[in-house]
Amino acid sequence: MYTRSLWLLAFMLLSAGSFAQLRISRLLTEQLHNPIAVASTQPRFSWQLESASRNAGQSAYEIVVTEGKNTVWKSGRVNSDQSVMVPYQGETLKSRKKYNWKLRVWDEKGKASGWSAPASFEMALLDAAEWKAKWITPGYTEDSVMRPSPLFLKKFDLSKKIASARLYITSHGLYEAMLNGQRVGDDYLTPGWTAYRKRLQYQVYDVTGMLQRGSNAIGVTLGSGWYRGAIGWVGGFNFYGKDIALLAQMHITYADGTETVIVSDESWKSSTGKIRYSEIYHGETIDARLDKAGWSTASYNDAGWSPVVVKDFSKSVLISTVNETVKKQERFKPIKIFTTPEGDKVIDFGQNLVGWVVVKVKGKTGDSIILSHAEVLDKKGNFYTANMRSAKVKNTYVLKGGEEEIFEPHFTWQGFRYAKIEGYPGEITADNFEAVALYSDMEPTGTFTSSNALVNQLQHNIEWGQRGNFLDVPTDCPQRDERLGWTGDAQAFARTASFNMNVNNFFAKWLRDVEADQDSGKVPFVVPNVLGKNAVNSAGWADVATIAPWDMYLAYGDKRLLETQYQSMKDYVESIRRVAKNDLWNTGFHFGDWLFYRPNDDNDGRAAVTDKYLIAQCFYAHSVQLLANAAKVLGRQEDAGNYTALSDRIKAAFLNEYMTSNGRLVSGTQTAYVLALHFDMLPENLRAQAAKRLAENVESYGTHLTTGFLGTPYLCHVLSRFGYADIAYKLLQQETYPSWLYPVKMGATTIWERWDGIKPDSTFQTPSMNSYNHYAYGAIGDWMYRVMAGLDTYEDGVGYKHIRIKPVIGGDFTHAEASLKTYYGLVKSGWKLEGNKLLMNLTIPVNTRATVYIPAEQADSIRENGVLISGVKDIKLAGRNGDYIQLELGAGEYHFSADRKVPVAAVKN
Ligand code: BGC
Repeated sequence: MYTRSLWLLAFMLLSAGSFAQLRISRLLTEQLHNPIAVASTQPRFSWQLESASRNAGQSAYEIVVTEGKNTVWKSGRVNSDQSVMVPYQGETLKSRKKYNWKLRVWDEKGKASGWSAPASFEMALLDAAEWKAKWITPGYTEDSVMRPSPLFLKKFDLSKKIASARLYITSHGLYEAMLNGQRVGDDYLTPGWTAYRKRLQYQVYDVTGMLQRGSNAIGVTLGSGWYRGAIGWVGGFNFYGKDIALLAQMHITYADGTETVIVSDESWKSSTGKIRYSEIYHGETIDARLDKAGWSTASYNDAGWSPVVVKDFSKSVLISTVNETVKKQERFKPIKIFTTPEGDKVIDFGQNLVGWVVVKVKGKTGDSIILSHAEVLDKKGNFYTANMRSAKVKNTYVLKGGEEEIFEPHFTWQGFRYAKIEGYPGEITADNFEAVALYSDMEPTGTFTSSNALVNQLQHNIEWGQRGNFLDVPTDCPQRDERLGWTGDAQAFARTASFNMNVNNFFAKWLRDVEADQDSGKVPFVVPNVLGKNAVNSAGWADVATIAPWDMYLAYGDKRLLETQYQSMKDYVESIRRVAKNDLWNTGFHFGDWLFYRPNDDNDGRAAVTDKYLIAQCFYAHSVQLLANAAKVLGRQEDAGNYTALSDRIKAAFLNEYMTSNGRLVSGTQTAYVLALHFDMLPENLRAQAAKRLAENVESYGTHLTTGFLGTPYLCHVLSRFGYADIAYKLLQQETYPSWLYPVKMGATTIWERWDGIKPDSTFQTPSMNSYNHYAYGAIGDWMYRVMAGLDTYEDGVGYKHIRIKPVIGGDFTHAEASLKTYYGLVKSGWKLEGNKLLMNLTIPVNTRATVYIPAEQADSIRENGVLISGVKDIKLAGRNGDYIQLELGAGEYHFSADRKVPVAAVKN
C-alpha cells in the first residue's frame, strides 16, 4: 500500500514536471473583480499566473471578450509578456452591457495553457442622457436647525419574472437605500467624496435578488454629509449647496427580455424618520420612537407623506465609481470598561480606529444614551476630548423601549479608542458594545515584520493610520473638525500606502479631484477643496500633483494613470514656473517643514527650522524632474527634453542661492540636507560632504531626528543611500523623543500628528493641533519595506515586473521580512541572521524577474536550498556590487544562505 502511494506520488510529480503549464487566476478588469460600473471604454485586463517551475513566464496571450453569444474582441495570439493592464481593443462597448472575458497564455517555452475561467465586467451608464431619473428633494418644510434625514419612498409593481436588475444611485449628501425592507449593498458613506461641482460619483448595485414579481418598494434615506454638512474648521455649512437630493434609476430586465425602468421623479413621496440629526463632525441623533417601521416595504401606509420636489441639478457631473467603496471592516470588543476619576463610564476598545460603536440595549421608551468619543485619556486617566476641537463627536440614541434595540449611526463616523457612555439603562457590559472600523475596501497587500517588537508595533500603527484616513479620500486626520484631503500629508504617505494596501484606484480617483480643483494649475491645500479659497501652491503640499501619480506608476505600473494626470502635472509645474524668477521659486506662502522638532531652549543658535524657500526650490526641482520622467515614459520627447533642461537650471539656481562654495547649506538642518540630497540638487562631488553634515547633525541631537512633514519621509533613505545606514537604524530604533518609537513606547496604536502629542511628562501638546491619528510620519514605512526588507521595483519594469531585492541589514535587528501582493502575485523578501550565517527567503512571482543583492562576503559561500549557487542552473551570478553579490533570478521560491561577517551588536539575541 505504502509503496503504491509512493509510486503514485512519484508519477504525479513527474507528470507535473513534464506537463507543467501555466495556471491563470485572479482576472481583473480595471483592477477590480468582475466590476459592474466600468466607465472606461478601453478597460484594462490583468491576470496572475502560477507555475510549479522556476523561471516561468508568459510569452504570449490570447483574450476573447463576448457579449451574450457575440464575440466582441478576439485579440488573437499576441506575442507579449504583458499580463497587467492590457487594454481592450474590440468593438465599441455599450452602456450597461455585461461582457465576459477569458484568456489563455503561452509560457516562456511556447507551451499553451488551458483557457482561464471566465471573468466579467459590466459597463456603467456611459452617456449622461441615459439618466432618465430626476433629482428630487423633500416636499415638506425642513427643520433648518436639526435638518433631520429625509426619507424617500416609491412603490412599484413588477408584472413579470425578473431576470436581472441594477440600481444606479447617487445623492447630494449621503444616501442609504433599501429595497423591500432590506439594505441595498454593504457600502457606507456613499456616494463618497469628490469635487462635487465637477465630479459626483454614482454607485451601481445588482439588486436582482431583492425584487419580486408583484409589489415592491424602494426607500432611500439621506444625510447631509460632505455636501451640505459642516465641513472645514471654520464651521461653514452648505459648501456645495443647501439642498439635499436624490437621483436613482433602476433598470429591471424581465426573463422575456423586456425591460422596465423605475426612476426618481415627482411620483415619489418624502417624510422624515428616526434620524433626527446627522453631521460628520458632530455625530448623529436617532430617536427610535420616530422610526416608521416597515417604511421601505410595499405594504407600508404612506398616506401622511409629503410629495417631493423635482430639481434641475446637474447630471453632467455624474461619474461612475472607480475606487473601492467604504465598507465595514474589523470589529473590536471592549477590552476594558471602567469609571474614570471624574466618574465617567468609559469603554476602551484597545485600538484607535475610525468607524463607530454598535450598541445593543433594552430599556424604556424615551431612555436616551449618549456616546462620546476620545482618542486618549489624560494624565489622570480622564476622558479627553479637547483635541477634537469644535467636533462634537457624539451619538445620541433614544429608545423605543421594550424589545432589545440595536443602534449605530449612518451618516457620520468617529476617530476614537475610548467611548464614554451616558444614560445606558442597566449595566454596561462588553456583550452590548462593539466598535466597527470603516474604510475604503482596498485589498491589504503588504506585511512587514522584524525582530524588534516596537518596530512591529510601529508598522501596526502605520497600517491603522492608513485605515483610519483612507475613507474615500486620503485625509490628514479622522476625528477633529478637519478630516480633509490635505495634499501634503497624502504626498508624504502615498508610496508607503501602496505597500500596505492596493491604493491604485483609490489614488486614481482622488487625483482626478486634484486636477478638478486645480486653479490655473495651482493645487489647493486640501482636495476636495472646501476651504473656499483660491488655490495657493505650498511647496510639498501642491507637489502631490506630480509625486502621487509617479508613485502610483512605480507601484502599479499604471501608465494610464500617468497619462491621465499628465496635464495636471504639467499645469502645476507651469504654475510655479510663472512665478519663479531666474528659476528660483522664492515667493508666496508655504507651510514649510510642518511640525518639525522645536526644542524648548535653543541658546546655541542651532535650530531645526528650514528656510521655506530652500524647501520650495527642492520641491520645484523634484516636480519638474518627475514631469520629465513622465514625459519620457509617455513618449513626449520634446517635453522630456525641455523639463530636464529646466530641472538643471533650477538646481543651478539652488546652488547659487542656498549653498556656500564649501558645500554648506544656508539652513543647516536635517530637512535641508535631506531634501537637497534626496532630490539630487547637488553635483556628485558635493554630495558626500553634505551627507556627512547631515549625519553629524543627527548625532549632535543625540541621534534624534528633528524633521517635520517634508524631511521625515526621506531622512532614512538619504542616510542609507550615502553610507550612514547605521545612523538610519539608530533613528529607527530610537525610543526617546523625538522619534518614531517614542509614541509607540507611550502606548500609541496609530501614528500621531506630532512627535510629542503626549509629552514625556504625560501632558498633552496644544489641543488646537494634536491628532493621534495622522499618517504623515508613518512615511518611514516606505524605508522599512524598500530598504530594510529590501523589496522594491525597478523603473525599467515598474509595478514589480522587474523586482529589486536589496536589503540593508543593520541596527540590532536579526530579522526583517516583507511581503507584497503585486498584480503579478506575491513577492517576498526576508532576511535572518543566525550566528555568522545570513539566510534570505525570497518569492518571485511568475512572469517577473528579480535582481537580487545578497550582502555576503563571497559568492562561493552562497547556497540555495543547501546547494552552492554555482551549481544551480536557474541562478545567474552577476558578480560583486559594492558590499553585495548580485544575482539575476526568474520566478520561484528561493532559500539562500551565506557566510556573513556579523556585526557584534547583532549577535546578542
Ligand atoms: C492638518 C495637516 C496639514 C496642515 C497644513 C493641519 O491642520 O491637519 O496635517 O497638512 O494643517 O500644514
